[in-house]
Amino acid sequence: MSAFWNGWIIILTVGNILACFWLIWWTMRKRAGEASSGDVTGHVWDENLQEYNNPLPRWWLFMFYFTLIFAAIYLALYPGLGSFKGLLGWSSHGSQYENEMKAAEEKYGPIYKKFASVPVAALATKPEYGEAREMGKRLFLTYCMQCHGSDARGSRGFPNLADKDWLWGGSPEQIQTSIANGRNGVMPSHAHLGEETIANLAAYVASLSGREVDSAKAEAGKQAFTTSGCIGCHGVDATGNPMLGAPDLTDKTWLYGGSEGIIRQTITKGRSGKMPAHKDLLGDDKVHLLAAYVYSLSQ
Ligand code: HEC
Ligand code: HEC
Repeated sequence: MSAFWNGWIIILTVGNILACFWLIWWTMRKRAGEASSGDVTGHVWDENLQEYNNPLPRWWLFMFYFTLIFAAIYLALYPGLGSFKGLLGWSSHGSQYENEMKAAEEKYGPIYKKFASVPVAALATKPEYGEAREMGKRLFLTYCMQCHGSDARGSRGFPNLADKDWLWGGSPEQIQTSIANGRNGVMPSHAHLGEETIANLAAYVASLSGREVDSAKAEAGKQAFTTSGCIGCHGVDATGNPMLGAPDLTDKTWLYGGSEGIIRQTITKGRSGKMPAHKDLLGDDKVHLLAAYVYSLSQ
């Protein structure tokens, strides 16, 4: 932090606390002279409802003082004033955080390790490994739910993990790789093809999953699907390619949507779904349990 911002934060913080002290002192001082008179403030509502200018109860004022004193002590002991480290020298980095993580790892590590040598498919299906699947489920609810949903059924742009339809493959190894290393599906923008070709392509793609479309457009789109290079990733028959995460366009499962309008958008703007890597965050043993849980959902 530069010296300027450091000073800025210190002045703002200390200034605010002093201003609060002054404000309370100022209202107290007024109280001494006017307490007994029971002045009205001059505000009147509904013809005769008046506001009295009575002093605050003393205990209430002391609560204000208490919070201000607490703030002063806190800021002296702990970091909070710019880059001042506080008299205790406490920090969330370094020892405390790392010690807690290490203690947790020593305590819980062996519980996860216990299942590391059992193959994912066995963990996912054998009745005696119910406990492992429960652990995988809890990990899923902590680390994966925000994107894939608590039931793993996903939403637009976030794939459903509970069905048998996969972008990157549904074998235990492929699922484990998806979780450990992350995935990035890149559908490039094809705006350069022009609106008419894109509309034809959208009609053709929509027709593949049985939607009613203009057959002349779909016929032209079928040509364009080959000449525009779509087959390079989605395959000649448009059934996709798990090596690239290119989805099957002939089924009724859609990552972004199967209406002509949304397909036009996908082709024009492109798409880039990102599944973050979790290997470094969670470690191999937890990824293993997660893979087992995810695999079990489609079995
Ligand atoms: C470089 C490879 C590549 C090319 C070329 C490509 N796509 Fe894609 N396409 C992908 C990938 C990968 C995805 C998934 C994107 C994601 O995961 O975010 C995708 C997604 C889509 C989707 C969305 C499917 C859904 O489930 O919502 C449609 C529709 C689509 N592509 C149509 C086309 C058409 C039409 C063309 C030709 C103009 C084309 N793609 C060319 C790789 C490609
Ligand atoms: C920040 C959002 C996000 C989080 C968090 C996340 N995912 Fe994903 N995940 C995605 C997206 C987006 C994709 C699709 C990538 C693509 O378009 O190719 C995906 C894809 C996947 C796939 C591949 C699906 C397929 O059809 O091949 C698996 C398996 C998966 N995620 C499991 C998990 C697990 C388990 C976790 C928790 C450890 C998790 N994800 C956390 C966003 C997320």
